[in-house]
Amino acid sequence: MTESAAPKLPPHRKVHVDLGPRSYDVLIGRGLLKHLKGQLASLLISHTSIIIADQQVYELGWFEQLSVPPVGKMTWICALPTGSLNEEAKSLEIYTKLIRDLAKNRASRSDAIIAVGGGVVGDLAGFVAATYLRGINFVQVPTTLLAMVDSSVGGKTGVNLPEGKNLVGAFHQPKLVVADLDTLKTLPVKEFAAGMAEVIKYGTIKDKGLFDRVAKGVKVGDDDLADIVEKCVTIKARIVENDEFETKGERALLNFGHTIGHAIEKASGYKTYLHGEAISLGMRAAAWLSRREAGLSQEDARDLDLALLANQLPVVLDREVDSQAILDALGNDKKVAADGANRWVLLKKMGEAESGRMISPHLVAQAVEYLRTHPDDL
Ligand SMILES: NC(=O)c1ccc[n+]([C@@H]2O[C@H](COP(=O)([O-])OP(=O)(O)OC[C@H]3O[C@@H](n4cnc5c(N)ncnc54)[C@H](O)[C@@H]3O)[C@@H](O)[C@H]2O)c1
Ligand SMILES: [Zn+2]
Repeated sequence: MTESAAPKLPPHRKVHVDLGPRSYDVLIGRGLLKHLKGQLASLLISHTSIIIADQQVYELGWFEQLSVPPVGKMTWICALPTGSLNEEAKSLEIYTKLIRDLAKNRASRSDAIIAVGGGVVGDLAGFVAATYLRGINFVQVPTTLLAMVDSSVGGKTGVNLPEGKNLVGAFHQPKLVVADLDTLKTLPVKEFAAGMAEVIKYGTIKDKGLFDRVAKGVKVGDDDLADIVEKCVTIKARIVENDEFETKGERALLNFGHTIGHAIEKASGYKTYLHGEAISLGMRAAAWLSRREAGLSQEDARDLDLALLANQLPVVLDREVDSQAILDALGNDKKVAADGANRWVLLKKMGEAESGRMISPHLVAQAVEYLRTHPDDL
């Protein structure tokens, strides 16, 4: 827990992501946006700033606080579709449009792309930054809780294909991440809750103290929100430092709840649940499997249910989502190994997870059916 000494910034937390030449800082605090220009100048990374944001974030006015335009000669806004489920914006078509705009405007390697928005914008803009001229500077300004604690850190960028999510992408670390908690004030409650699913995930896999705190429920105005975000970012940073390219298994721990969660998203056509909501269900199912296969206690599994409920997350699967469609989707999961079996992240106890476990399809089907049941006597 470090309080940065940077003179011009309001009090904030700083998490350093140590990746050798690709190292960077994540700044977490309130009122940081208006200081971004100074931060970019001090890092000397931006001749021209190219801002990619979604229309919704732009219209909310957070953008005006950035005061970035005077730094450079060119900025523009990518108008992504508004509405909560804007996954379709993470497409090759919009990627192509952006990258051609960069070429037409002769953007160079000394310019920086700044992503202002949620994970959709961050992944898309990051992939543009990763590939244009074989990679240019990139800065993340996450404005959703999910993007602050998860997608803005770690360097995974990419877009979706009609055949599946995130099938095209690259690792490209940002030069700086600025998480201004003030931007969360305009975030819809449902989106905040979806971000809380990832926060709960961090506590569940790595930090029982964090889990115990968030299990009571977290609100956007809570005094310790910066502390909570810092803890999540630190966990992600340490995992990424140990396994930047997801080759050693440790980064796979971050997929807790994501195997069934992704399948639920796919089976429901990405229309019924926000990502975090699907992960909430996925974590409940993974906890059920963990009780049978990894020795998780009934009490810990129940605490997870209660924490999800306290944060307005779903724990019972919508009747309209077909179980067989979920099981079919599991067959296409990106994490399916060469032998065709899914590798699972399971919980041994609250705060401790393991990856790489194989589970029989029969048991997986039971875990999906378990999501039809309500947690008892709540
Ligand atoms: N790269 C990674 O490591 C990684 C990790 C996790 C998730 N992701 C990706 O992140 C994406 C999901 O990100 P998300 O949950 O941030 O969703 P999102 O980017 O779709 O944002 C959610 C909604 O909130 C709006 N919004 C954003 N900031 C706002 C604000 N401050 N006030 C009001 N509205 C605001 C957006 O316009 C959008 O409608 C998925 O595409 C997922 O694949 C990537
Ligand atoms: Zn996730």
